[in-house]
Amino acid sequence: MLISKTPRLAVIGLGFIGLPLSLSYAMKGASVIGIDVLEDHVNDINAAKCHFHEQYQGKSLAEILSEQLAQGRFQATTSYEQAANEVDHYIITVGLPVHNQDPDLRYLNAACETLATVLKKGDTVVVRSTVIPGTTEDIVLPLLEKSGLKAGVDFYLAYSSERIAEGRAFEEFIHMPLAVGGVTDESAQRAKQLLSFVTEAEITVSEIKIVETAKVIENIQRDVNIAMVQEFARFSEKLGIDTFELIRIANTHKRVNLLTPGPGVGGYCLPNALYYLLTKAKELQVPVPLLETARKTNDQVPQVLVEMLQEKLEEVGKSLASSKIAVLGLAMKDFSNDDRISPPHHFVQLLLDSGADVSAYDPAVKAAYPYRVSSLEEAVTKADALVYVTVQEEFLEIDWLALSEKMASQPVFLDAKNRVPKTVNQYGNLIRI
Ligand SMILES: NC(=O)c1ccc[n+]([C@@H]2O[C@H](COP(=O)([O-])OP(=O)(O)OC[C@H]3O[C@@H](n4cnc5c(N)ncnc54)[C@H](O)[C@@H]3O)[C@@H](O)[C@H]2O)c1
Repeated sequence: MLISKTPRLAVIGLGFIGLPLSLSYAMKGASVIGIDVLEDHVNDINAAKCHFHEQYQGKSLAEILSEQLAQGRFQATTSYEQAANEVDHYIITVGLPVHNQDPDLRYLNAACETLATVLKKGDTVVVRSTVIPGTTEDIVLPLLEKSGLKAGVDFYLAYSSERIAEGRAFEEFIHMPLAVGGVTDESAQRAKQLLSFVTEAEITVSEIKIVETAKVIENIQRDVNIAMVQEFARFSEKLGIDTFELIRIANTHKRVNLLTPGPGVGGYCLPNALYYLLTKAKELQVPVPLLETARKTNDQVPQVLVEMLQEKLEEVGKSLASSKIAVLGLAMKDFSNDDRISPPHHFVQLLLDSGADVSAYDPAVKAAYPYRVSSLEEAVTKADALVYVTVQEEFLEIDWLALSEKMASQPVFLDAKNRVPKTVNQYGNLIRI
């Protein structure tokens, strides 16, 4: 046994990944400190306040947090020193946001630089953020060695990709297979033991760069698959067949796995993945035109939606510029409250640029936007069109006939989620992506 039976660890970065990950360790009996640089966020967490949409065994994340705080197995801090006095393992989960197609390493660099000031002999560091291939050895390692300690000799350094999907974090931390690579065999084995404290699924050991790159291409292959399906959707729309039924039938083939089209590809993970790979591909002068085209295709879907909507409105004698458009959903994916890099926002912006009056409603997204309204009724009243872009629980209950009666005459329904019943054609005009 390279690490103790009840590890003491710090999770660096208490975001959508770091907080539920910390609690997953705490629930299993580990002693966990969560470190974040945002003081208000840390104070909220220590007061058991958290808005992330996660649950496990019937309990919300906030309830789990409250229990683990009360049992003293978890606490949050802004102080690396405080954490260092109490732990000997670190898992880094800070993000690398992408600005103008350029990954921003500032958070990761800062986390490593501060960690280097408190790192002790014998500590284990596992990077779990999604990174540009090569980051662990080329950037993290030298920053941590500023501590005066040598990686693989005095402390152990490894990389393991994070593969969970938001909304299923607790479940997937346990059941999603992992891959891990270490700067030495012992680093990999220590990291594997630390990961297997929570993860019951297989953990495969490989080289660091392979694990880093695999994570990025796992995301990119979804981006490409969705872009391909968008092209199939444009084809089937013109052919006059139902795209979702087409995909359902194609997927009955055992070796076919088409994803579904939607309003675009959003969130932190999928759209950013290409730019992590591209940074390295440019350095290595490796062209990746297929992958870049797929990204562009997915980025253009909100514009495609605008054009579809405009065409249908014109068919019923209305113009987009003088229409009220109700948008259902702002989150980047169904049943989520995460609206980072969310195609619905991009879509709304394009509608506003066209002069339309937009009322967007998403019961899960709490951030204020000038176009966000606070009820479904407010969104749809007198609306000329309704565009369904993200599924939320409340939308599952919609009485479509009653809703359409609140809308303007000849309402248009643009469904990007395959959720609006075809019966709305009896009192409106349904189009689907
Ligand atoms: N969100 C997902 O579904 C998901 C899934 C798989 C992988 N990932 C990857 O996991 C990583 C984390 O994603 P996330 O969604 O949790 O990001 P996030 O932005 O929600 O959380 C990151 C947290 O790190 C904190 N932070 C920034 N700098 C810090 C520092 N120097 N020290 C301590 N804390 C610091 C931020 O304040 C923030 O709370 C990313 O690399 C992402 O690509 C995310």
